[in-house]
Amino acid sequence: MDVDPAWLPPALFRAVGSRRTLVRGVGELVDTVHGEVATACQRFGGSLARGPRDGSCDLVLDLSASGLGDEDFTLSRDGRTTMVTASGGRGLLYGLFHVVRLGEAAFGGARARETHRPALALRMLDHWDNVAVHPVMGQVERGYAGGSLFWKDGRARPEYGRVRAYARLLAACGINAVAVNNVNVHDTEAHLLTDRVGEVALLAAEFRRYGIRVHLSVTFAAPTVLGGLPSADPLDAAVRAWWAGAVRDVYEVIPDFGGFVVKADSEGRPGPFAYGRSHADGANMLAAALAPYGGTVHWRAFVYDHRQDWRDRTTDRARAAYDHFVPLDGEFAPNAVLQVKHGPMDFQVREPVSPLIGAMPRTRLGVELQATQEYTGQQRHVCWLGPMWSQVLRFRPEGEAGAAVGELARGGLVAVSNVGDDPFWTGHPLAQANLYTCGRLAWQPDAEPRDVLGEWIGLTFPDAPKRLVDGLHAVLDGSWRTYEKYTAPLGVGFMVQPGHHYGPGVDGYEYSPWGTYHFADRDGVGVDRSRATGTGYAAQYAQPWAEVYESPRTCPDELLLFFHHVPYGHVLHGGSTVIQHIYDTHFEGVAEAEEARRVWAGLTGLVDPARHARVAERYEEQLHSAREWRDQVNAYFFRKSGVPDGRGRRIY
Ligand code: GCU
Repeated sequence: MDVDPAWLPPALFRAVGSRRTLVRGVGELVDTVHGEVATACQRFGGSLARGPRDGSCDLVLDLSASGLGDEDFTLSRDGRTTMVTASGGRGLLYGLFHVVRLGEAAFGGARARETHRPALALRMLDHWDNVAVHPVMGQVERGYAGGSLFWKDGRARPEYGRVRAYARLLAACGINAVAVNNVNVHDTEAHLLTDRVGEVALLAAEFRRYGIRVHLSVTFAAPTVLGGLPSADPLDAAVRAWWAGAVRDVYEVIPDFGGFVVKADSEGRPGPFAYGRSHADGANMLAAALAPYGGTVHWRAFVYDHRQDWRDRTTDRARAAYDHFVPLDGEFAPNAVLQVKHGPMDFQVREPVSPLIGAMPRTRLGVELQATQEYTGQQRHVCWLGPMWSQVLRFRPEGEAGAAVGELARGGLVAVSNVGDDPFWTGHPLAQANLYTCGRLAWQPDAEPRDVLGEWIGLTFPDAPKRLVDGLHAVLDGSWRTYEKYTAPLGVGFMVQPGHHYGPGVDGYEYSPWGTYHFADRDGVGVDRSRATGTGYAAQYAQPWAEVYESPRTCPDELLLFFHHVPYGHVLHGGSTVIQHIYDTHFEGVAEAEEARRVWAGLTGLVDPARHARVAERYEEQLHSAREWRDQVNAYFFRKSGVPDGRGRRIY
C-alpha cells in the first residue's frame, strides 16, 4: 500500500489546482509552496506563475508583507483574487494549507482581510522512538503503530519518502517541531548527539522543507558516556565545555536545530541529583550551551519516586512534580522550557490538571499531552482525546478570572506522537484524528474540539455523504467518555496490566513500587489527597480549586476517587452510589462500544475497503477488551463490597 494521504488526499487540492495561482517570494519554504501548487495544477489543470503579479490570477501567495510574525499569514479576497500574504516562509505555507482546507469556499465572494497566527509558538511532537530495538520496549516505546518512521534495527532508515510525507501532514495541521528519539535515551541513541548526528541531519533536511525543526532527546550523562569525563556535574567547567562543544558541532550540521529534550532523575535516568545539584542547575547548563544558536532545552518535570513502598501512605506520587519544581520558579534560563505532563500522574483517562501549571509564573512552561494511547486503548480502541485535551487547555488554575492552561503554556504544547511505519500511520486509522487534533489545538487551544474533529473528517473523507460524516461523529465524538466508562472509575486511574499497560488488572499496580494505588477494601475505594486527612495534594492548587477538591461534597464526581477515599455507598452528585455508578458505567461503556461497532459496520461501502476492514477488525478487539474490563472491574468491586447490582445484572 502507498502512504496513506490521511488529511491531505489529492482531491482536496482541486480548488487550488484548477485555478491560476501566483507565488511570490524566495526561499526553501516558498519552493515548497510552489511545489505543492505545481503538483495540484498538474493534477487538476490549473496554472502557476512565479514572480511579479500579472493581474489575472485567482490566488496569490505572497511572501512580502511586513509586520507579521514568521508564522502568521493574512487572507483576503477582493471578489476576484484570493490573497495570502506572509512575512515568513512558514506563514506562507500555513496560508496555503488554510486555503486548501477551505477549498471552494476560499474563492467565493469577497472576504475582508483576516490575520491568522498561532497562539503557541512551539507546537511539537515527541517521538519515543529507539534507534536500536529495546529488549522490553521494542523499536518505539509505547508505540502502537508498527516500527519507527525514522529508525530500524539500529540504523536510520535508508529512504525518507515517508518522512517527507509525514512532515507535510504535520505542517498541514500546524506542527513546527519534532523530537526524533525516545526520552529514555539508551546507549545507541546517546550517539545521535555526537558521532551519529549526521543521521539526524538527514531527517532535519526533510523536516525543514515543511518548516519543522528537529530536536534530540539527550542523556544527562552524555559527558561521561560519550565524552569519557569522570563526571556530568552541571557546575563543573569541563562538563560545561564538553556540552558547549557538542552543541557547536550539532549546529554545524543542523543550523536550525531546535534543541534538547531531557528526562533527568526520572524513572532511573541520570540527572543532576547525583551531584547534589538542582534541576535548574542541570537545565541551565544545557540552556547556556544552546543559547548562542537560538536553541531551547525542554526539561521534563516528570520527576517522582518510582521505588516507593506501597505501605508508605505519606508519599504521594501526584505531589512530586510540584514539590520538586515550584521552589525553583524564577531560576530557569529564558531558553529553558519546563515540560509538564498535563496531569500529575501519567496520561490516565481522567486526571485533574497538574497543579504545577499556573504555580510557576516566572518559568516558561510547556504542556505535554500523549497522543499515543498508552492508557487509552493503545490504538486498538477508538478513543478520540480532543475533548479531554480541550478541557485541560481551557482549565483556569486560578478560577474564572485567571488565565487558561492554553495561555499559560508559554513554552508550547508537546504531544507524544502516535505514529509509526504502519500503512495508516497510526495503527488504528481513526487515531489519526488524535494527531490532527494535537496540531490544531496547539495552534488554537480554545478551539471547539468537535469543530476540529469536523475539520479532520472533512479533510480525510472529502465529499463524504452526510451519512458518513454523521457516522464518524457518532463513533468518535463520545469515544473518550465511553472508554472512561468501561475502565478505571471516577478518576482513580491505572488498574491496568503492569508493564505493557493494556487491558484490565485492577490490582496490577496495587502492591508495586510505582506509586499508583486505589486502596480498595471491603468498605470503600479511592485516595485521600485532601489537606485535612490525606496527602495534602489538594492544597497544591490555588483557589478556588484547592477548596473544591478538598471535600467530597464539592469535588466533581469524575475526580472523586482521585481526591478521596469514600465508602461504596457514598452518593455522587449525579444521584447514584459509587458502587452502583461503577456497575452502571461499566455496562453502559460496553453497550456504547457495541453500538459504535454497529454504526461502523453500517458504513461499509462509504469508506475505502482496506480502511474499513482495519477499523472493523480493531472493533472486535475493542469489544473483547471492553467486556473483559467490565467483568473484571464489576466482579472485583462486587466481591470486595458484597453489594449487589441494584438492577440485578450478571456480575461474576
Ligand atoms: C510513562 C511511560 C513510559 C515513559 C514515561 C515518560 O511512565 O509508561 O514508557 O518513559 O511515561 O513519560 O517518561
